[in-house]
Amino acid sequence: MSELSTTITLTGGAEIPRYGYGTFRIDDAEAAAAVTAALDTGYRLIDTAVGYQNEVGVGRAINGSGLKREELFLTSKVWDHGYDEVRRNLEESLERLGTDYLDLYLLHWPRPEVDRYVESWRALVDARSEGLIRSAGVSNFTVEHLTRVQAETGTVPEVNQVELHPYFSQPELRAYHDEHGVVTESWGPLGLRGEGLFEEAAVRAVAEAQGRTPAQVVLRWNLQRGNVVIPKSVTPARIRENWEVLDFALTDDELAAVDALDTGRRQGGDPADVN
Ligand SMILES: NC(=O)c1ccc[n+]([C@@H]2O[C@H](COP(=O)([O-])OP(=O)(O)OC[C@H]3O[C@@H](n4cnc5c(N)ncnc54)[C@H](OP(=O)(O)O)[C@@H]3O)[C@@H](O)[C@H]2O)c1
Repeated sequence: MSELSTTITLTGGAEIPRYGYGTFRIDDAEAAAAVTAALDTGYRLIDTAVGYQNEVGVGRAINGSGLKREELFLTSKVWDHGYDEVRRNLEESLERLGTDYLDLYLLHWPRPEVDRYVESWRALVDARSEGLIRSAGVSNFTVEHLTRVQAETGTVPEVNQVELHPYFSQPELRAYHDEHGVVTESWGPLGLRGEGLFEEAAVRAVAEAQGRTPAQVVLRWNLQRGNVVIPKSVTPARIRENWEVLDFALTDDELAAVDALDTGRRQGGDPADVN
């Protein structure tokens, strides 16, 4: 796949940009400048969460950007579970972000010990019907959690945002997503700060052959595997470097060489244990 469409159509009909900007570990004070740099570079999907505590700064950037709201794709996530709690969190996020709708709202983690994610999901479905959110999804859900949501509500999340990089490429989960129309969105796409990954011989060989950096190769691999990708950086040069992945393509052999780095081991939290 050398030519990539710029968006993917979600099952609810909205178009999600394939490529976006993540804001984890950017605090409220620096978020406005960082998101402004990303928007100036060309990113239009901005990913935040209640838990990142930077929605005010993100809101300041989007509202001061001069871009029309419909040109942006704004995602936030909710940590708390329970129907009313999710609804209250959503209203508070809209207030902090200074907008009257989200393009995508995600349940941040299933939190199985709390065991209220099905009820929380129903709140997202209702918020979508009311137009407070355009698309509804989840994050860090495994096949088990997705199957239960579908069985108990008859609805399927439009997106599942999960840890996904060459060391942990989640082939089984992606196959499930493909079968059920769920779009895969990759967090930690640089393999949690690129530690080790950028030194891999397979990545370095592709980078050299393509005249690109290891980070660009890793991001491009993720895009060509069909995922929405949201790298984070507060460094202007890296914000640009990470953006410049839309004008080259890995060959099938290069993709396969990067695929072979999969260890099957997470580097971030395990959905079974995060509560
Ligand atoms: N749903 C979830 O549970 C979840 C969990 C984690 C993340 N996320 C989302 O996914 C986004 C991306 O994940 P992430 O932030 O964890 O990790 P990431 O984007 O894979 O990596 C970010 C780290 O890599 C560095 N970096 C960025 N570009 C680089 C480059 N070209 N060369 C070398 N280093 C580079 C950044 O440093 P500098 O910033 O210092 O440049 C930062 O330390 C988050 O920001 C967040 O929006 C979601």
